[in-house]
Amino acid sequence: MRRVALVIGLAAWLAGPIAGRVAVGAPMEKGAVPEAAPLATSRPPDPANGRRIVVDRRRGFCLLCHSGPFPEERFHGDLAPSLAGAGLRWSEGQIRARLIDSTAINPDTIMPPYFKSEGGYRLGRAFAGKPILNAEEIEDVTAFLATLRD
Ligand code: HEC
Repeated sequence: MRRVALVIGLAAWLAGPIAGRVAVGAPMEKGAVPEAAPLATSRPPDPANGRRIVVDRRRGFCLLCHSGPFPEERFHGDLAPSLAGAGLRWSEGQIRARLIDSTAINPDTIMPPYFKSEGGYRLGRAFAGKPILNAEEIEDVTAFLATLRD
């Protein structure tokens, strides 16, 4: 049920921007992107779990929009830059800031805020008032993306 709600919510979320204008961000200068401090978590970050979240279409659904070094996944999105080399282009703090709330970096982005429990974004009702990923998961995905260095 929760997953169905997410898919419906995501479709609604995507329909607006894609129908009108695709807000694929222009390349940004590293210095212009803010950083976020590590979130308080109950355990150390686990990059292997971060990778699982990124390729999982029901948890991170990153590959709906992004491509990347994930040969086992047949379909990759092309609405966003490849995640390959993300750890070279951005600091960990910048990656984390992007995951927490991409709209704070680019108000027109179609990338959902993964760790913001309030605000005007439209996700399924199951997610109303809840972040998409919890603090541990944000740290796991951040640690994984930081390893993408080619
Ligand atoms: C609905 C589409 C969408 C989804 C889902 C999405 N993103 Fe994005 N993401 C974007 C777009 C578009 C950009 C380009 C910058 C912008 O729009 O601000 C971006 C930018 C990024 C960047 C910076 C890329 C670069 O090197 O310039 C990273 C890192 C990133 N996303 C990671 C993720 C991760 C990890 C997930 C899953 C947890 C994810 N994104 C899910 C659309 C998406």
